[in-house]
Amino acid sequence: MSRNPFNPSWGTRPPVLAGRQEILQAVFEDLAAGPGHANYHHVFYGPRGVGKTVLLTEIAEHVHREWEWAVVDYSGTPEYGPRQALAEAAPALLRQLGGRRASAQGLPRRVEAAAPVPGRPLRASVELPGVDASQFLPLLQRLAELAQKRGAGLLFVVDEVQRARAQPDLELLGNTVQQLERRRGLPVSMAMAGLHNTPRHLARACTFFERQDKVQVTDLGPDATRVAYLEPLATGGIAIDTEALELLVARSQGYPFAIQLYGHRAWERVGEGGRLTLAEAMIAVEDADRWLAVNLYEPRWDRLDTTERAMVKAIAALGGTMVATRDIATAVGRTPSQLSVARHALLNEHHVVHTPRYGHLAFDLPGFDRWLAQTQDLGSLRLPPPRRPPRSGPSP
Ligand SMILES: Nc1ncnc2c1ncn2[C@@H]1O[C@H](COP(=O)(O)OP(=O)(O)OP(=O)(O)O)[C@@H](O)[C@H]1O
Ligand SMILES: [Mg+2]
Repeated sequence: MSRNPFNPSWGTRPPVLAGRQEILQAVFEDLAAGPGHANYHHVFYGPRGVGKTVLLTEIAEHVHREWEWAVVDYSGTPEYGPRQALAEAAPALLRQLGGRRASAQGLPRRVEAAAPVPGRPLRASVELPGVDASQFLPLLQRLAELAQKRGAGLLFVVDEVQRARAQPDLELLGNTVQQLERRRGLPVSMAMAGLHNTPRHLARACTFFERQDKVQVTDLGPDATRVAYLEPLATGGIAIDTEALELLVARSQGYPFAIQLYGHRAWERVGEGGRLTLAEAMIAVEDADRWLAVNLYEPRWDRLDTTERAMVKAIAALGGTMVATRDIATAVGRTPSQLSVARHALLNEHHVVHTPRYGHLAFDLPGFDRWLAQTQDLGSLRLPPPRRPPRSGPSP
């Protein structure tokens, strides 16, 4: 059996990057404009599975392949930050940019220690101490200068940026890049991506980030969704009936992760050289929906407490997008301030909703509203009265 063109694992390269041409073109134009350009750095944010990582990957691969840029690429965690990423990447980048001579010249000791020794595996990244904060700027500067001499640049990629520590990690990165790119005119650019709270998280790190444009990554439109199904199916030698395609398009609602999952299941049902009919597509979609329920929706639901559950049910009952917190409060029988702890947890801990506009909430997990409508009773939303009603003053 030949390879399924819809790769099932999260975060890997999609068979076709549909509907992102405009974003990519703008990014490459911004980078080509050089240091000092207003949009020299790029921040993407959006819900899980919308395609942020594949966008970063495409940008990084393009600048590396087409322009021979140096790339430092990592996924943020509290333990692994820009200092570790730079320590790990520097030896190979110095070789890439400067040849043997540059790699031998006075690397910070810790970086030398991290350099791969032929025949010995690279140390596990969690063990890497990272370059000292004081060495971070000189080392990045050196790499950027070498890149500049070759007419290239350096791209610092941070994925899952909401998980990276605002202090000291993102603050160090932001301040250093500001120094090098803005003040010294060196070609160091950042490309970052994270969930909806990313812009606020970055603003807490340093003021430089506040001033960068942030691009919201949204679901694909119907035309791009069709392309995202048709191209890989054609590659896999599968014909598809129009009704089957329209079913897949309607059910995935442009959510890239669902497209990939539905496409994968559909391909599996038909196999190379086959034809996807409406009946087969329906089975594939139901199969994939069960997977989504078990792996995405049910685990999220299990983690929510009673108030949080009442809130998400109310959001689903009220339409799922752009629901006023005030209306949610009325629906569950609380005041907005009585819901503020649960609201905060839904936003920042469970990542189930985001704030599309001040005072409003919307689901961050596409399809969650449909799953709630199918599995929960959205007719009964009211919470029992609060256990200790606030006293209005001393009793007479
Ligand atoms: N434009 C696209 N066209 C086709 N498939 C896509 C597109 N964007 C993303 N995908 C597919 O959707 C899935 C999710 O993409 P990706 O992992 O980049 O999402 P993400 O936003 O980084 O999610 P998370 O927040 O969970 O990390 C991947 O399997 C990817 O192959
Ligand atoms: Mg990702």
